[in-house]
Amino acid sequence: MHIYNDLQPKRYNLGSVLRYTARFFGEQILHGQVADQMEEHSNSEDQGDSASNSVDTKKRRILIGVTGAVGAVAGIGAVTPFVMSMFPSERARAAGAPLEVDVGNIEPGMMITEEWRGKPVWILHRTAEMIEAVRKSDDKVADPDSRLPMQPDYAQNELRSIKPDYLVLVGICTHLGCSPSQKLEAGEASGLGAEWLGGFFCPCHGSRFDLAGRVYKGALAPANLDVPPHTFLTDTRVLIGEDRKGA
Ligand code: FES
Repeated sequence: MHIYNDLQPKRYNLGSVLRYTARFFGEQILHGQVADQMEEHSNSEDQGDSASNSVDTKKRRILIGVTGAVGAVAGIGAVTPFVMSMFPSERARAAGAPLEVDVGNIEPGMMITEEWRGKPVWILHRTAEMIEAVRKSDDKVADPDSRLPMQPDYAQNELRSIKPDYLVLVGICTHLGCSPSQKLEAGEASGLGAEWLGGFFCPCHGSRFDLAGRVYKGALAPANLDVPPHTFLTDTRVLIGEDRKGA
């Protein structure tokens, strides 16, 4: 789910740039031609006008046309790299360019999935009940203090997050790489029994994780879900892929 499409950089298509540039210079050429025609018409009315003036006018028109065409090519060459450099390419993003996400529109209790370095990244807006559920899970999970290095230092805490209400996780099971399912709801409605406190369930081999991505004891997954490097630029904007310590 992508809820911040309006924040995506506006993409300029190379074809549009070319068309715009060509049209601009085309208008300049046409303008020059009209001016020349007016001048030529005036000259033709002049009794003293000679045939050589007419030849000069044609040469000038051709020269303007050539100059305009050269200008158009130069303009395209100058504008294109500038426009293209304004935005990270898909290749750069796939290679790991940081990803900025507006989390302000995620309703409490809801989660979105983004893609960073070709992996799903979950951002869960935890409610107070969810935070409490994490605390109640301490004795059910294998590594409650996140001793294994599955998170940056600033997320090595009980909630595995910078801000208690926002959890950022790589949504890939640490067993064999399946993508766990959201089982955010507690109790029977989750299908995981009345004792379930909410979290994630890997359908491949049944590993369970709590609402901080901590793996349950006895699961085949050997470690908690990975917390990617991230930082908060503002209260509601998170940059995934950079380690600057945020708010
Ligand atoms: S891949 Fe998740 S439990 Fe095996």
